Amino acid sequence: MVACGQVLACWTLLALLAGVSADPARYDHFRLYRLLIETPAQVEMLQQLEKQSDSYAFMGHARQPNQNLTIMVAPHKIAEITELLQRYELQGSILLYNMQELIDREKATIKPKGTRPEEFAWQFYHHLDTINEWLRWQAGRHPELQLLELGASYENRSLYGVKLGTNPANSGVFVECGIHAREWISPASCTFVLNELLSSDRPDVRRLADRFNWIIFPVVNPDGYRYTFEGDRFWRKNMQPYGVCRGVDLNRNFASDWNGPGASNDPCRYDFAGGSAASEPETRALVEFLERHVAQWRIRTYFSVHSFSQLVMFPYGYKVDRVPNYDDLVAIGRKGVDAIERAHGARYVSGAMIETIYPSSGDSVDWVYSALGVPVAYTFELRGPPDSTNMFVLPAEEIIPTAEELLAAFIAMLGEATRLSYYDGERQEL
Ligand SMILES: *[C@@H]1O[C@H](CO)[C@@H](O)[C@H](O)[C@H]1NC(C)=O
Ligand SMILES: *[C@@H]1O[C@H](CO)[C@@H](O)[C@H](O)[C@H]1NC(C)=O
Repeated sequence: MVACGQVLACWTLLALLAGVSADPARYDHFRLYRLLIETPAQVEMLQQLEKQSDSYAFMGHARQPNQNLTIMVAPHKIAEITELLQRYELQGSILLYNMQELIDREKATIKPKGTRPEEFAWQFYHHLDTINEWLRWQAGRHPELQLLELGASYENRSLYGVKLGTNPANSGVFVECGIHAREWISPASCTFVLNELLSSDRPDVRRLADRFNWIIFPVVNPDGYRYTFEGDRFWRKNMQPYGVCRGVDLNRNFASDWNGPGASNDPCRYDFAGGSAASEPETRALVEFLERHVAQWRIRTYFSVHSFSQLVMFPYGYKVDRVPNYDDLVAIGRKGVDAIERAHGARYVSGAMIETIYPSSGDSVDWVYSALGVPVAYTFELRGPPDSTNMFVLPAEEIIPTAEELLAAFIAMLGEATRLSYYDGERQEL
């Protein structure tokens, strides 16, 4: 009995040590498949597969014939998937044979911890602490930049953001980034945009900084973001445990048809909606902040920045009804997409969320639009394209062009929304 107790103690100690030093998930020989679903039988088979096995990571769900779907397949399932694809006559291609190679290659483009804010650069990805230090440093250098701190995540980290601009006559633009942990291009692009707003000499950028007050939160899921550096590069959710699984998809946790279509009530799924609407501390922090400031700061524009698929989407995600200002949002979205293409030739698609990507409920953009009446609300999916071979692991040399596209879209979209009188004072109603 004594020996057993000692073994147990030793084991516990090992587990503790493992928690301190990094022992990250590996994706050796995980493959990426792109499938073209053509028949109802194929839809049903893929739905069964997703439900019954966590060895297949679905990027979206199988919903209908005439749909492309990307899935990541664990190496011990390669024979099984090969057989299934043959038996169900599923067309598809293998985009990538070893996901770990992507992750390993990316490591060289991560600036080490402890990087000083002066060395912050967009040829690299940055740790959470580096981003927060950089925000603090910028706030110290620019009197018009105020550091905002919302508390706190499940693991007790603050959500840091900034407010740029102090003119009370200006309309507020809220930029929410990094709600999905693995989408590193989101915080990278949002910090780039902030830096341009602070320091660019370009007249169009200066106008943007002068005419709007900007509220930018580069990483609203700080626990998840940290975990993608030290635990699992493909983690999406926050870190709150629910039974043996953990993590809530924060972009399914808002009170916009919470736990409806395109969300899961299973804590082990990537799109788990949480215990209830706004069950998560990160969601609550955002909700309370927005409720408190939406009128006071005249926040009439909300941008949520994600990757990948190259989309510019507006509400709704949870129902097919068109929003009251649908035509305006189509026009504003089109301006964004055109500006993006002019920047570096990348092709984005714009449209209502449910018509463009897939049904999703409980997301932040639907909530700010429906509950807070923010009339200009968009979700961006940045590079790469829908059939991207690197998904969330976008090569660092694409950070700057991608972020320049986002800035170009902001300029064009805010210009069009201004033209459509969305910022003409308090009279403007939905
Ligand atoms: C699926 O992908 C192929 C190849 O990229 C494309 O030609 C086709 O239009 C896509 N189909 C749908 C329904 O998105
Ligand atoms: C959370 O952080 C605050 C301030 O950083 C600290 O005072 C508090 O003790 C922390 N709480 C826990 C549970 O770690």
